[in-house]
Amino acid sequence: MATGIIGTGSYLPPTVIDNNELAKLVKTDDEWIREHTGIVERHIATDETTSYMATEAAKAAIKNADLDPKKIDLIIVATLSAERATPSMSCIVQDKIGAVNATCFDLNAACSGFVYALQTADAYIQTGLAKTALIIGAETLSKLVDWKDRSTCILFADGAGAAIVTDKEHGILSSITHSDGSKGMSLKCKDRSTRNFLVRKQEDKHYIQMIGPDIFKFAVRRVPACIDLLLQRAGVSKEDVTYYVLHQANARIVASVSKKMEIPIEKFPMNIEHCGNTSSASIPILLDEMNRSGMLKEGDKVVICGFGGGLTWGAQLIEW
Ligand code: UT7
Repeated sequence: MATGIIGTGSYLPPTVIDNNELAKLVKTDDEWIREHTGIVERHIATDETTSYMATEAAKAAIKNADLDPKKIDLIIVATLSAERATPSMSCIVQDKIGAVNATCFDLNAACSGFVYALQTADAYIQTGLAKTALIIGAETLSKLVDWKDRSTCILFADGAGAAIVTDKEHGILSSITHSDGSKGMSLKCKDRSTRNFLVRKQEDKHYIQMIGPDIFKFAVRRVPACIDLLLQRAGVSKEDVTYYVLHQANARIVASVSKKMEIPIEKFPMNIEHCGNTSSASIPILLDEMNRSGMLKEGDKVVICGFGGGLTWGAQLIEW
């Protein structure tokens, strides 16, 4: 038996902003954004919070799995943009969906968050600590982005994706995660500084800062090596994989990985054109689109791979 996905769901806030709208905010244009990222439009939250989007994605996944929420005994929300320090996003989701028997916690592995959450759920399930888990990637990056910084505000977006996982015949064949904290400052966002009765400071206003080309090079170097190791450990050839579902960071990163690994680009589904870069949410949103459109067939071998802030990266090979 293996930990496998039995349901998926996603939620995108209804407000859609295209590149031309952004060109009114910063010095940029539609052509530059399309050519450098592959993005045409993205969903941006207005009233929607991270926990709200996580809950909506969770409800859709539960419905898709035809599951009684009381059977969920673990909820993990991967996020770097929670609207509260406490209660956690996962505790809020638990309450909203009535998953009264679940243990709940959040996890921050930035854009690798969904892969880390799936690996954690797999460990819980395979050691008997849980039977059925709900894992979610949910982000409101629009609140962390400096809308005057054209190098980041054109890239990041909002949304949530979820999956229900349980012990079944087909599932995870191989799983890898890695971190390199020494390079972490190339993609950073500071939280509040210490401010108390001993230390008096002005209110902080910190935003995402990224050395884009460094992260780009990191991704193109690490992702192929990570996938190679993943497949080698499972004894599966790259030709036997039906789809490579990469974190939707930038269409050029996906294209570079495809070229470097000599795997046809058709095996790399993408939705970045309409969703932008939603960090931990991008993989489950894309998986849900693929699942609902009937692209995924029983027995298909699917690689998912996340990479980003931390720095972190990781991948799973899943037999659908
Ligand atoms: O999801 C988590 C991990 N994150 C990523 O994986 C992101 C990885 N990095 C990237 O996706 C890309 O580096 C970016 C999309 C962020 C930037 O694309 P790039 O092709 O690496 O551009 P660049 O930063 O090298 O900038 C090239 C030029 C610069 O001008 P000069 O110095 O050549 O005159 C920038 O100032 O493009 C300029 N530029 C822009 N021009 C128009 C940067 N942003 C913009 C913009 N519009 N929005």
